[in-house]
Parts: sequence; structure tokens; C-alpha cells
Amino acid sequence: MNPFSFPGVGAIFFGVDRVEQLADDVSSLEEKGTSVVLISDAGVAKEGILDRVKSILERSGHDVIVFSDLKSEPRAKSVDEAAAIVRRCGKPCIVGLGGGSALDVAKLAAVIVGDDRPAQDYALCAHSLPKPALKRIMIPTTAGTGSEVTRNVIFATREGRKVWAWGKELLPDLVILDPRLTISLPAHITATSGLDALVHAIEACTSQHRNPFSDSLGLHAIRLGKQHLMTAIEKPNDMIARSGMLLASTLAGLAFGTTGTAAAHSIGHALATIAGIPHGRAVAIGLDAILEWNAEASPEAFAAVADALGSQRNPDAAAPAFRTLIEQTGLDRSLVDKKIDPETLATVMMAEENKPMIENNARPITQQDALELARRTLSF
Ligand SMILES: [Fe+2]
Repeated sequence: MNPFSFPGVGAIFFGVDRVEQLADDVSSLEEKGTSVVLISDAGVAKEGILDRVKSILERSGHDVIVFSDLKSEPRAKSVDEAAAIVRRCGKPCIVGLGGGSALDVAKLAAVIVGDDRPAQDYALCAHSLPKPALKRIMIPTTAGTGSEVTRNVIFATREGRKVWAWGKELLPDLVILDPRLTISLPAHITATSGLDALVHAIEACTSQHRNPFSDSLGLHAIRLGKQHLMTAIEKPNDMIARSGMLLASTLAGLAFGTTGTAAAHSIGHALATIAGIPHGRAVAIGLDAILEWNAEASPEAFAAVADALGSQRNPDAAAPAFRTLIEQTGLDRSLVDKKIDPETLATVMMAEENKPMIENNARPITQQDALELARRTLSF
């Protein structure tokens, strides 16, 4: 059996409207009246969620400073701007509220304030992260990244390269899972973020580092995703489906938190670097391209995935089951309009920043394999 570590995370609270107790949560971690830096994104602000959360805190006497200048995928510059605001506030409590981008910026900004390096210096573990000095609460408003419970953050460098930082220092003190915060997500974001959660779960329980923790958490995340994704897309106010997807996302985050992701994420990150393809769509396309090819490497693991996807317990059934789900969501699988060169895609897939995911893949990938997988990715 593989050696592994399960880093744990602070307390996790789940409940419809659980966010109403946020001020008590801050007080449970910090002295009453501590200021709060609320790190969020433009989408959350537009939906009125940001104002609601801000007023929950202000009603209880907390000064709230908002940073919500984030539109899509996070950049090192955004992390540095958020960190500059945090530094000006003394010793605030940090609340991340939003999709994976807002949570990643909040997680990294809250920690790097303990040093004077810019965010980019921590890319690919080039420097160790400072010990966290601030309390952190993460509240996801999408169901996909699982960022609220993971030790990694993803961001783009000044040059546009998609990179990661990693360390137990990035784990929050407290997580609030409130499915009502996800009901305003448009159908296409519900679809792509939900597929991202499924990719995390499938990669966790088929990767080189899979273990009993990732299997238990990941396989149940797959079952929940299969059960609830289409309802969440078609009936956005269905709280049972929204709850199922939010829990699938967090369980998948806990699963891949102990294993890392695999080659579908190398393909996805390369598609983001080369052509700016958003994360959920990119990794769903990546997994679709590699799942069948991977299955022979670990028949038992892929049979369990197929079973969790509601198909026969057979390794060859995993790829068609996942493709059916992609097709049901209406995800645009084709990248023809991007005119991506397969050789370029293969090169970026195998680049330093994507190597750990390649090395964690169920089936070892040579340079020649990478080219074949790049061609499969672009073949639709
Ligand atoms: Fe992902």
C-alpha cells in the first residue's frame, strides 16, 4: 500500500444558510471586534452574496475590508494586491468567499503576508511558505474546485504560465459549506465546476498515490456528482442537488488533497496556458481524452470508478460513462477553433509545472505518449 498523509483541515460546517453564523465563527477564532478582510470576486459581488456576507459581519461589530477585484483565473498580481491590503489591516481574520480563484487568492495572500516575498516566489515550492499568523475561513460559492480543503493554490505568473503553490500552511482554520450560496450559479458554470469535482475524484482514486482515504472520499464524491449534477444544472434552486454537488466538491477536494491530481490536470493546465481554456472545461476534456488509455494500468481502480458512475463494474466502462455525463451537460468538447498545435500541447503538458501530475498518473506517460494524448485531446 502507498504511504500517504491526510493533512486534515479545520472544522467543516455544512448547512443551508449556515453562513448566517459567520460572525460567531470569526469570534470563535479571534477576539470580538477583530477586523475582517473579505476576499471575493466580481461574480459573487454581482449576485449580492458579497453584500449579504459583509452585512452579517458588520452587524456584529466587525470592520470589513473587501478585496473583490478578481474576474476569472487568479494571477500572482492579484495575490500581491490582496496581501498588500491584508498587511495594512494589522492582524485581521481572512474570509475567502467565492469560487476557486477567490479562495486561492485568499489562502495564499493570508500566508505570504508573513514574509516580504511576492506570490510568484512561492510558485512550484521554490520557497517555503511562512507559518500562518492569521485565522482563515473559506466559504465556497461554487461546487467544483474543493479549494476550501486543499493544500494547493493555482495562479498564473506574470508571463501567463499556470503554476501552483503547495503546503499545509494553506489549509484554513474553518470551512463553511452553505449550498444556498451556490444556487445563483449559471448552468454552464454549474456544469464545468461540477465536472472539475468529478475529475478530482476520479484522478484521486486512480492515481499513483491513491490510498484508502482517497478511495473512500473520492468514490463517494463520484456517486454524489453522478446523482446530482444534471439536476443542479436543470433545476438551479433544487437544494438537495446543490447540497449534493457542494459535498461532492469538498469530498473530492479532501480526496485529491491526499493524492494530488493526475494527467487530466496536466492537459487542463496546458490548455489554460496555451489557449486560456477555463479550468473545468479544460480538465473535463483532458480526462475524456485519457480515461480509456489509462484504464488498463489499474483495472480494479477504474472498475470502481465505472461502478460509482452508475455503470458496470468494469474498467472499460469508466470512459464511456464519463463521456455520457459530459455530453449530458452540453459541454463543448471541441477545441478546433483554437488551432492548437499537438506538439506544443504535448510539450507544455510535460513542462516542469505539470510534471508532478504526469508522474502521478495511473499509467506512466512518455514524451511519445504525451503527443498521442495531445492528439486525442484535439481530435474532436
Ligand atoms: Fe481541478
